[in-house]
Amino acid sequence: MSSTTTAAGALDSNESLDSDESTAGTETIADSPALDAIAVAATLPLDEKVALLTGAATWTLRAIPEIGLRTMTVSDGPIGVRGTGEDGLPSAQLPAPSATAATWDVDLQARLGTLMAAEARRKAVDVVLAPVVNLQRSPVGGRHFECLAEDPFLTARLAVAFVDAIQAQGIAACVKHFVGNETETDRTEYLSRIDERTLREAYLAPFEAVVEAGVWTVMAAYNGLVLDGVGQTSTAHGPLLNGILKQEWGFDGVVVSDWLATKTTVEPALGGLDLVMPGPGGPWADGLLAAVRDGRVPESAIDDKVARIVRLAERVGALSGLAGETLPFDATGATGDPGGDEVTAFLTEAAARSTVVLRNEGGLLPVSPGPDGPARIALIGHNAITPFTQGGGSAFVTAPHVSDPLDALRAAFPAAKVELHRGGATTMGAPLTPAELLTTPDGGRGVRIEHLDADGAVIGSQQVPDAASLWFPIDDDAVASVRLITDVMLDRAGRHVIELAPVGAHLIEVDGVHRAASDTHVGVEVVLNSSYANPPAVETVIETDAPRTVRIEAELQVIDGESYGRFVRLHFRYRAPGQTVDEELDQAVAAAAASDLAVVVVGTNPETESEGWDRPNLALPARQNELVRRVVAANPRTVVVVNAGAPVLLPWLDEVAAVLWWWLPGQEAGRSLAAVLSGATEPSGRLPWTLPADEADVPVPNGIPVDGFIDYAEGVDVGHRGWDRLGRTPAREFGYGLGYAEWEYRSLELVDAASGTGGDGSADHLAIARVTIANVAARDGREVVQLYLSADGDESRPVRWLAGFAVVEVAAGDTATVDIPLARRSFETWSTDAAGWTLPVGAYRLRAGRSSRDLRLETTHTISG
Ligand code: BGC
Repeated sequence: MSSTTTAAGALDSNESLDSDESTAGTETIADSPALDAIAVAATLPLDEKVALLTGAATWTLRAIPEIGLRTMTVSDGPIGVRGTGEDGLPSAQLPAPSATAATWDVDLQARLGTLMAAEARRKAVDVVLAPVVNLQRSPVGGRHFECLAEDPFLTARLAVAFVDAIQAQGIAACVKHFVGNETETDRTEYLSRIDERTLREAYLAPFEAVVEAGVWTVMAAYNGLVLDGVGQTSTAHGPLLNGILKQEWGFDGVVVSDWLATKTTVEPALGGLDLVMPGPGGPWADGLLAAVRDGRVPESAIDDKVARIVRLAERVGALSGLAGETLPFDATGATGDPGGDEVTAFLTEAAARSTVVLRNEGGLLPVSPGPDGPARIALIGHNAITPFTQGGGSAFVTAPHVSDPLDALRAAFPAAKVELHRGGATTMGAPLTPAELLTTPDGGRGVRIEHLDADGAVIGSQQVPDAASLWFPIDDDAVASVRLITDVMLDRAGRHVIELAPVGAHLIEVDGVHRAASDTHVGVEVVLNSSYANPPAVETVIETDAPRTVRIEAELQVIDGESYGRFVRLHFRYRAPGQTVDEELDQAVAAAAASDLAVVVVGTNPETESEGWDRPNLALPARQNELVRRVVAANPRTVVVVNAGAPVLLPWLDEVAAVLWWWLPGQEAGRSLAAVLSGATEPSGRLPWTLPADEADVPVPNGIPVDGFIDYAEGVDVGHRGWDRLGRTPAREFGYGLGYAEWEYRSLELVDAASGTGGDGSADHLAIARVTIANVAARDGREVVQLYLSADGDESRPVRWLAGFAVVEVAAGDTATVDIPLARRSFETWSTDAAGWTLPVGAYRLRAGRSSRDLRLETTHTISG
């Protein structure tokens, strides 16, 4: 038998659970080699200690050379490591977390964690602000793509593997956003109202697992939480931060605020927050020293926070140990090249393996790349031309390259002629204006920016060569606004569209004609609510019968983004004359009809999926459904590839021969798609969330706050559990994914926790499930064996819940047996009355299968009193 197995049971985390690390409290401080430094820190003057508790800048902490503490640098996460943005270097751009979660593979998560650590080293970063372990409670959630899964167990297991791996390299992970941060609408205002049992069993569970595994930092969320009837913002939530996180779970690391989330001084200081980010400035810089001096905050609370930051410094190698020289940043382990062969190969594998086969009629996939394969392939879709590789918001990184689908398909199918057709634009906004069309009034390339003071007098100027960079910092406080001047070359006859989308107060003229004005000045809130990302545009249509230029003049306010700096923001876009959407659709359909195979890439785009807002609905943007239906009618040999991080409705799903969910695939977009289509890599993804067929069926259709509260009324029935509870049928259920092999489930038995090969015999595993499967296909395959428990008759439990899984590679025609431990916690439930976990006695049905609704084997585990 040839097989390899990755059992993602509770073993890994429980091993670290049993280790001394997780119990670190005061004793650990005493045992730690950093004792002297902590003692020294405690002897620092109070003002220095307090100053350490606010960031030095947007991405850095303060240094205290007297105690050998150098600056520590933090960076987002979770798509890659952006760094401070100062080095101008690109970053490896990973597939979105919702993609890699679809592998259900803890080993792959660990490899991603190791890559992130190497990227952090290369970028001189000590703390990576990842993973996100909030749950995908509603499919419209704006940060859905940044989360791993809708299921707490799957989220916890994957996050633990990631955190273990990154921290093993001496780089801190920062698990976020603690807690109940599942909605972007009014995200800095609302309170999540979650009953305690639901909180414990669902939303806290991944955080608890990651803390048990020894994570070094936790980020307190923007939103607040109602616990025990008391509502408080997360950064100041004593029962949450001091109570559950620090006292009950023994967290010995640093609680950092989400950026600009801390609003007050005393409550967060008493409630358990350790570090206000970003800095300088903010409520602690302004008022904490006085609050300690006048007794509102005890100095011991400050000492505890300082000790935690010093301990973090020790962990990441930012502390030389004693007063004197500080350590330089240790760049050992840096990859060097995020676009190099090694990273490219790994990220291609990750994106390809994440891809989920939703349908594959008649074995259309994989497509032979040889002479027996298609001679002509029509590659179609806006997202085939511009793949949506990452969602918007703070996780954004600049990739070293984006592998182009057309180039990749041409390389993978050398015997075929591959043609590309857009089939209609799908974004509402036009593309960014190409720099080569822009000229300054004095004939230079680009845009002239005049700096104006508060009276409107010109006090300086600069030239910006590239319209895409019209987000520029203004460091000089005397500059209140700017005047932007440029001539756009309309280089041919036809209909030209210019879109100018300013942020804040503005005055816009096109060819001397007034187009728009606003006196409304904006501030840092445009960063927090992400409205700077998608402001409404002023559109000017110019019909011309000969080439000409058009003069743009815009006065724009300078936005004070506090710790994000002062900046000016204008989206400047241009659509050249070209075919209409109808013409493009006709052309794409004709190309499909004339080809042996059509590959249609549909999906979302930066206007759709981002931090800062939730989606209004689950529809594919623009006329993509029409495109699919017409292409399929023209050529039944059609593969539809869905390029989206979060669910979109696919009304034609069961009318198309083959459908792949390709996620937000990161920098290796094209190569991963070619690997999947050609079968070089098996797309072995399984949905980590439920794909709805109809918007009306979605159990939690949105998370819009009502009177400032979001009620988690569905309780523990998050995600697929809600679909089961309501008896609704989705388009594809949680855990679904066909892959390219075929599987038989042969046997399921329970073996004693001590005797299974996957168990360690500890009391934390009540049993081991031993599953034997066979790969009955003619090709090697990778299966995700899934285990679900139910407590039939106990209505208070979910209908069924995920309790274990394992990734198994099995050669064609072979069988494999895998042992998957069943953790005690999987059977337990939180008793609010007893304020603790209880283990209900009785018979539990255990089922094994290919998805949450394709359960093929069954047995019973009885817990006796
Ligand atoms: C996000 C965090 C992020 C932080 C720093 C916030 O807006 O919620 O996830 O780490 O910004 O960029």
